[in-house]
Amino acid sequence: MEKLVVTGPTPLKGEVTISGAKNAAVAILPATLLIDGVCTIENIPNISDIKISCEILEQLGSKITWNNKNSITIENSNLTTTKAPLDLTSKFRASYYIIGAMLGRMGEIEVGMPGGCKLGARPIDQHIKGFELLGANVTVEKGTIYAKAKKLKGSPIYMDIVSVGATINVMIASVLAKGTTIIDNAAKEPHIVDVANFLNTMGADIRGAGTDVIKINGVEKLHGNSTYSVVPDQIEAGTFMLAAVATRGDLIIKNCITKHLESITAKIIEVGANVEDNGDSIHVWCNKRPNKANIKTLPYPGFPTDLQPQMGVVLSLANGTSIINESIWESRFQYTDELNKMGAKITAQGKTAFFEGVKKLYGAPVYSSDLRAGAALVIAGTAANGVTEIYNLEHIDRGYENIEDKFRKIGAKIERVNE
Ligand code: EPU
Repeated sequence: MEKLVVTGPTPLKGEVTISGAKNAAVAILPATLLIDGVCTIENIPNISDIKISCEILEQLGSKITWNNKNSITIENSNLTTTKAPLDLTSKFRASYYIIGAMLGRMGEIEVGMPGGCKLGARPIDQHIKGFELLGANVTVEKGTIYAKAKKLKGSPIYMDIVSVGATINVMIASVLAKGTTIIDNAAKEPHIVDVANFLNTMGADIRGAGTDVIKINGVEKLHGNSTYSVVPDQIEAGTFMLAAVATRGDLIIKNCITKHLESITAKIIEVGANVEDNGDSIHVWCNKRPNKANIKTLPYPGFPTDLQPQMGVVLSLANGTSIINESIWESRFQYTDELNKMGAKITAQGKTAFFEGVKKLYGAPVYSSDLRAGAALVIAGTAANGVTEIYNLEHIDRGYENIEDKFRKIGAKIERVNE
């Protein structure tokens, strides 16, 4: 079993370069299935979710060449099956994008119910509603989703809730549909804009991505033969910004889009740390104990749920009592039990948690319950006095490229150990 061993406290200092966005890349890869040809995707994060995504595509008939560790060329001229491997698709969340892409390209797909982090109920009713409005027949039996359509037809689609996955999935499915699709109450996250930009580069006609109304005029085919570079990861950038604050460090975070980081920047300033926007990099430093602050997670441009645990580490060390209200996921406070093992004083009740700030955290053996909880524990271990051992690394490896390398280069004492 692998674990990360972190010895703290260390104020993180120096420069760190952000990778491509996981949640954009895991949608762009399946979206390439719409292209009857070749395309190259660059700035792909080298993480386990991407490796599984590539394996699924290869089993559908994609030819994938790795140009280097962050760039692939995909050729999708000869798809050989409409049955996606059930064992692989149930391993991660974004496998649901195979449905939108294969419905668009082949009019048929059989796929396992998506897996992913256990954050509470994760229904896909809005995805299914969108596909059905486009004319598909979708059934779910014994954990397998069967979706079929003769030819998808554009339609107005009102999303009952703001969903990142449903917005992207329906957008992907609509690209080759006949006529116009209008997605109302769409999610606005940066990765939605990035998937739309990718598809438009390949010949799609999508307008309004990044607003709550997205209009997709169906096109006959996508031309491929282009190269696309994935947007920098907003959540990885935010993770390092919060790591700088929690460890009272001084970091320059390079290759990020500072516009995507406004809600995080506002909270970092509220807790009394410093942020300087340098265009394509952001400088964050903190030389005193953070102040308390209250957070409510919201869809973009609100404070992202995917940075809630990392912010929780900052608030567990703050002067005073802070409240976090998690409005997206039912069960995203599992990490608070682990922080309490390290000396934090957090009480979580349902979707609200109270953080009575302590002056110091202390090293302890802790378990990562999901991807962002894992990142929070790495930050906590770096800020804490003594040795922290972090287990369940498979969660962290799903979404952060070489996390220990990046932390080590900015001063953390961190090792991956195979027990
Ligand atoms: N929801 C429904 N029905 C649906 C879809 C969603 O009720 O058909 C609900 C969910 O249960 C949740 C809310 O709507 O309460 C929002 O879910 P959303 O669909 O936006 O989430 P997702 O697409 O499953 C993506 C990210 C998550 C991130 C959320 C929210 C990917 C692969 N995952 O999930 O990322 O937390 O959006 O921003 O893009 C992570 O990276 O650690 C992660 C969990």
